[in-house]
Amino acid sequence: MRMSVSWILLVSLFGFGQCFPVWEEREALLEQEDSRRAGGNIVLGEKEMEANENLMKIKEAEMSQAMISGIFPPSMHFFRARKHIQQSKVFSILQEMPKGGALHLHDFAILSVDWLVKNASYLPDSYICFTRTGDVRFTFSKPAPVGKLPSGCSEWVLLEAYRKKLGDVTEFDRSLISNLTLLTDTPELDYPTQDKVWRRFEGTFITGAGLILYAPVFKEYIYEGLQELYQDNIQYVELRAMLPPVYELDGTTHDRAWLVATYKDVANRFKEEHPDFLGLKIIYTVHRHEDLPAVKEAVVYAMQLMAQFPDTMAGFDLVGQEDFGHSLHELREALILPSTMGVTLPYFFHAGETSWQGMDVDENVLDALLLNTSRIGHGFALIRHPVARELSLKRNVPLEICPVSNQVLLLESDLRNHPAAALLANGHPLVISSDDPSVFGAKGLSYDFYEVFMGIGGSKADLKTLKQLVVNSIRFSSLTSAEKEKLRNIWQNKWDKFVKDLAKTTWEKEQ
Ligand SMILES: *[C@@H]1O[C@H](CO)[C@@H](O)[C@H](O)[C@H]1NC(C)=O
Ligand SMILES: *[C@@H]1O[C@H](CO)[C@@H](O)[C@H](O)[C@H]1NC(C)=O
Ligand SMILES: *[C@@H]1O[C@H](CO)[C@@H](O)[C@H](O)[C@H]1NC(C)=O
Ligand SMILES: [Zn+2]
Repeated sequence: MRMSVSWILLVSLFGFGQCFPVWEEREALLEQEDSRRAGGNIVLGEKEMEANENLMKIKEAEMSQAMISGIFPPSMHFFRARKHIQQSKVFSILQEMPKGGALHLHDFAILSVDWLVKNASYLPDSYICFTRTGDVRFTFSKPAPVGKLPSGCSEWVLLEAYRKKLGDVTEFDRSLISNLTLLTDTPELDYPTQDKVWRRFEGTFITGAGLILYAPVFKEYIYEGLQELYQDNIQYVELRAMLPPVYELDGTTHDRAWLVATYKDVANRFKEEHPDFLGLKIIYTVHRHEDLPAVKEAVVYAMQLMAQFPDTMAGFDLVGQEDFGHSLHELREALILPSTMGVTLPYFFHAGETSWQGMDVDENVLDALLLNTSRIGHGFALIRHPVARELSLKRNVPLEICPVSNQVLLLESDLRNHPAAALLANGHPLVISSDDPSVFGAKGLSYDFYEVFMGIGGSKADLKTLKQLVVNSIRFSSLTSAEKEKLRNIWQNKWDKFVKDLAKTTWEKEQ
């Protein structure tokens, strides 16, 4: 009561006008907030300012439109938002934006799955089997595969013969494509829980493996994958790779070192043909469901690979649903091996990709930092761990934010509420990535940048924000300083051109 009386008194003295001291303070406080946001301290050049003005007009127009129509893609499930995003002008600008490095991608989810079905599965000696649960498995073999049937399969069928007998091959191929992604019109019905969506998610990899791990397909997959990322204006890639056995037609298999050598060869060929591409590095990953001895073996193998392929190998990580268990702390005996041996093995741990709090799972963010991780994959739980958050800031350990992945895997339905919103607003080191774009029906990094720019970053995120995130992707990459310098130069040229084009863009609604 007394408060409101004195408030009325103040108002009557000063009026509501601009001179009321609180409003001057408000300006200053808002300015402070602006400068704290990722990119807040970047000073734009003249052309960049013009480009930014255009970009923000286009963004504002789309946001106003969203408020009228009620269709705001970042607050919708990605599977429904996709077609709206594809029509967005902001999105088309983000596709053109040179993005530096894609630092959080998984080996077998970088290339749109159409290619696997329409090209790879049409190669000679391609077999399919249908499992009791409605899934499919693939293999290539000559002579015809004998024995080794995947669980739940009754027989291998030659795909060429099977397709010949089919009435509607297009429909069949569409069903195969849908086996390789999570796409559906009814995600809430099909994936009611995190466990269910994770099981289907890992299932897509098991299905794809039969195709991708056939040596000729494997090589082509890497090349086509790089091509798709390159077309999304990505200049460099770090791939988390499980390096499973790749097989030949006669059933012989190749070991992990062969895979790294192949990644290196294919990336080199791609680089030669695309001099404005910096190439690819590998983060060797093992599934966290493995037991301690298997993780130890993988860590030891990772050190060996680092020594054998110093230019291609970047480090080590664990993959798979964190909620399942086997936290970093549980696996610590394996993970401290390198430091006890005096060997450097950079870590890039997935950590805190969970909704739980106060468990080993979310404490992974702290353990990742204690193990000197170079970056944190997702770090979704970081915001609820103030000490880990401070450590990550102090040590400049960035989070790899993959919004589409987090939404599809049911961590956050409305991306405006993604925890990275608070981190981005406070200038925490972040990079943007897409995790498994092909499985989510995305491509490259553009969709994730869209979600960040429109949703997570709020209406004030601008060209400075974008520039900071892209610059971060170079800075926090595993490239040597000489390689970073080269990437920065290549990127800067592309950025200048992007800015020049954007400064010329008209923002009036097109008819
Ligand atoms: C895939 O197959 C289609 C149809 O045969 C062909 O047009 C296309 O060039 C192929 N793409 C690649 C990358 O091989
Ligand atoms: C996978 O392919 C099979 C065979 O065509 C089909 O019956 C099944 O519905 C597909 N599964 C999904 C999830 O699309
Ligand atoms: C992490 O880095 C600190 C400081 O350099 C070092 O003392 C510690 O042994 C490292 N820990 C691991 C697990 O590598
Ligand atoms: Zn991941």
